[in-house]
Amino acid sequence: MTYYKERGISFPDTFVPRSNLEHMKTFDIRDDDIMIMSYPKTGTWWIYQVVKQILASEGIQDEKYLSNLPNHLEFTVPGIGALVELFKTAPSPRVLTTHVPVEFLPSGLLGSKAKIIVMMRNPKDTAVSTFHFYQKVPEMKTPESWDSFVEEFLAGDCPWGPFYDHVLGFWKLKDHHNILFLKYEDMKKDLPAEVRKLSSFLGRPLTEEAVQAVASATQFDSMNKTLVGQKIDLQTRKGVIGDWKNHFSDEQSRAFDDQYRDRLSNTGLEFEFE
Ligand code: A3P
Repeated sequence: MTYYKERGISFPDTFVPRSNLEHMKTFDIRDDDIMIMSYPKTGTWWIYQVVKQILASEGIQDEKYLSNLPNHLEFTVPGIGALVELFKTAPSPRVLTTHVPVEFLPSGLLGSKAKIIVMMRNPKDTAVSTFHFYQKVPEMKTPESWDSFVEEFLAGDCPWGPFYDHVLGFWKLKDHHNILFLKYEDMKKDLPAEVRKLSSFLGRPLTEEAVQAVASATQFDSMNKTLVGQKIDLQTRKGVIGDWKNHFSDEQSRAFDDQYRDRLSNTGLEFEFE
C-alpha cells in the first residue's frame, strides 16, 4: 500500500492509479447522469443505494457487476479495471460516485445538466468511521492508534484530502442550478423526507407508498442484512449518529470543535453531532 500526491492531495495508488485521475478530467458527462460526490465514510454507499432504489421503482436497473462493488469513478477494481473506462459505455442513466475533491471533477460536469448530489456528514463521526474502515482494508494505511489518527485527521493528512477543504470546495457550488446537498444526520432522522426531496430533485417524484418502500429498503437494518457476509460488508458498520462519543477524549473533542468553528463559521454550512 502506498499513497502518492497529486496537486497536494494524497491518493492510494492501488485504488486510484494516477492515470485514472487524468482520464476523469476528460470523462464525458451526459445530461442524464446522476453524480454523487462525497468525502469518504460519509454515507456514500447509502445514498447510492437510495438513488438506485428510486430508479428501480421506475424499472431501471444498473449493471449487476456494479451494484455490489465500490464504484467510484476514480477507482480501479481488481478483475474489472479502471471504472472511468468502463463507465464510458454504461447505459444511461448512469449513477456515478466519487470522492475526489472538486478540482478533480470531470471538466464538463458543471456545465452539463447532470444532477449532482453532495453527501456530507459531521466530521467527528466521519473520522470514527474512517478509523475503523482503515483497519479493515489492507489497501489503506492502518492507523497506529486512535490518538495518532485524530492528529492526522485534524492536520488534514488524509487520503482524498483534508475534510474541510473537501466539503467547502463543494459548498462553494451551492448556488449551482443542479446540485443537492444531503446530510447523513438528516437521513438518519427522517429518511422518507430525504427520499422525497431527492426523488423530486432527480425529476422522478415518487408516490408516498414508493417513498416508504425506498426508505424501508435502504434503512440501516435492511442494508446491513442484505450485505453482511459478502465482501461488501465493508460498507456498513454501526450506522449511527454520535458514535464519536465512544472514541473521543474531551481534549480531542474540543480540538475538533475549535477547528469546526474556525473553518465553518460564516459559511452557512453546519452539522449535527447527535
Ligand atoms: P459507520 O462506520 O459510522 O457505521 P461510505 O459509504 O461513504 O463509506 O460511508 C460508510 C458509513 O455509512 C458507515 O458509517 C456505514 O455504517 C454507514 N452506512 C451505510 N449504510 C447506511 C444506512 N443504510 N444507514 C445508516 N448508515 C449507513
